[in-house]
Amino acid sequence: MKRLILALTAFMPLAPSLAQNFIPNYDESKVPDYVLPDPLQFANGQRVHDAPDWENRRIEILRLFEEEMFGVSPAWDGQMQLLELSRNNEALGGKAVQQEVKLTLERNGQWVDLVLLTYLPKGVDKAPMFVGLNFYGNHTISADEAIHVTKSWIRNNADMGYTDNRASDSNRGSRVTNWPVEEMVNRGYGLATMYYGDIDPDFDDGFANGVHALFPDEIRNDKSWGSVAAWAWGISRIVDYLEGVPGVDHGRLAVVGHSRLGKAALWAAAVDSRFTIAISNNSGCGGAALSRRRFGETVERINTSFPHWFNRRFRIYNNEEDSLPMDQHQLIAILAPHPVYIASAAEDLWADPKGEFLSAVAATPVYQLLGKEGLPVSEWPKVEVPVMGTLGYHVRKGGHGMLYYDWMQYLDFADRHWK
Ligand code: GCU
Repeated sequence: MKRLILALTAFMPLAPSLAQNFIPNYDESKVPDYVLPDPLQFANGQRVHDAPDWENRRIEILRLFEEEMFGVSPAWDGQMQLLELSRNNEALGGKAVQQEVKLTLERNGQWVDLVLLTYLPKGVDKAPMFVGLNFYGNHTISADEAIHVTKSWIRNNADMGYTDNRASDSNRGSRVTNWPVEEMVNRGYGLATMYYGDIDPDFDDGFANGVHALFPDEIRNDKSWGSVAAWAWGISRIVDYLEGVPGVDHGRLAVVGHSRLGKAALWAAAVDSRFTIAISNNSGCGGAALSRRRFGETVERINTSFPHWFNRRFRIYNNEEDSLPMDQHQLIAILAPHPVYIASAAEDLWADPKGEFLSAVAATPVYQLLGKEGLPVSEWPKVEVPVMGTLGYHVRKGGHGMLYYDWMQYLDFADRHWK
C-alpha cells in the first residue's frame, strides 16, 4: 500500500504551500536517526568482497541514481561543429592562451550552440585541466572585452544588471575571484568553462529548450533526464572537444562545480570516467550531502523549488528519505578509486556541511576495498583544516560560494594526485 501511495504521489502536482511553509532544520540534535544503505552490499543482500564484485555493485548503484534521481540521459549520436570565436595568445600577461570556441551540437536538424572558454598555460606540453560550468557567463571570468556575452536565457539579477533574462556586458570580470585562473595557470593547470544556461536554461520549461531539444524523438517518462543530468551531459561534450586539443592532458581532467553545478559535477564524473578527479564545492542536497539527515534543504524542498532538476521519480522520496534505495555517500563511492574533493562552508547550513563530510566518511570503505585511503579522518575537521587522502575535505569559514581559499585546496589536491 505504501508503495502504491508513493508511486501515485510521483505524479501529483506539488502544493505551493510546501515551499512557502518550509522551515529548515538547523539543529543537529533534531537530525533523525537513520541507517545508510551499505555501498558494499548488493540489493539482494550479498556482500561485495573484492574489486570485481565492486564493479557490479557500482553499476547497480549508478542505475539507482540514474533511475531514481538524475534521470536517464540519452547517448550522444549527433555531430559537433567547431568555430573559434576569439583567441588571445598573450593572455594573463603572456602566460596563457585564452580561446573561445563555439561547439555547435547538431542532431537530426536540431542544433544548440555551446560557447567554451579555455585557458591553456604556455610552456606546458600537455596541461591537466579543470573543467567546470559557470553561473553568470564566460565574460564574468575575465575582464577581457573579447569574450562574448552569452545570448542564452539567464536568470534576472539586479546586482548583475541582468534584465529580460539576458546577460549584459556590465559584469565583465565580476567573477574573477571565484575563478582564479592566473593561479591555475601559474601552477601549470588549464581551465575549460562554459555558462551552464547554454546547455540547459535553468527554469522549468518542460524540457523544450537547451540540449533536451536535440532529442525531440525522446518519449519522456518519469525516469527521463532532468536539468542536472543535462548539465552533466553537456560537461561530457566539453570533454569530447578537449580530446581533440593536443595541448590538453586527457588523462588528467578534473570536473569541478559549485552548488547546483557541484551536483552536476559529481554526476558528470559518475557517468563519464574520463574525469579522474571530481570536486564538489558546497553541492549540498542532491550533491554531496546525505539526504537522510534532512538538515537544511530536503528532498521535498528541492523537488518543490526546482521541479526540473531531477527526474519525476525522485519526488517519490519527498519526506520519504528513508525509503531511498541509495544516499549521497554512494554518489561519492561510485567515483572510487578516483580522488574526490568535497568542500563545505561553515555558514552554509542550507547545504548541510556536516552531511557533506559524513558522505565522504561513508564512502571510504569502498576506497579501502580498492586499496585506497579514502578520507583520512572520521571526525569532522575544524574550520580551514583541510584533510587530503584519496578523498579530500575542508570546511571553510563563511558562507555559500566557491572562493580563492577553496581553489587553493583544489590545486594542492590536484598536485598531490597528479604530480
Ligand atoms: C539553491 C538550492 C541549492 C543549490 C543552490 C545553488 O539554494 O536550494 O540546492 O545548490 O541554490 O545552486 O546555488
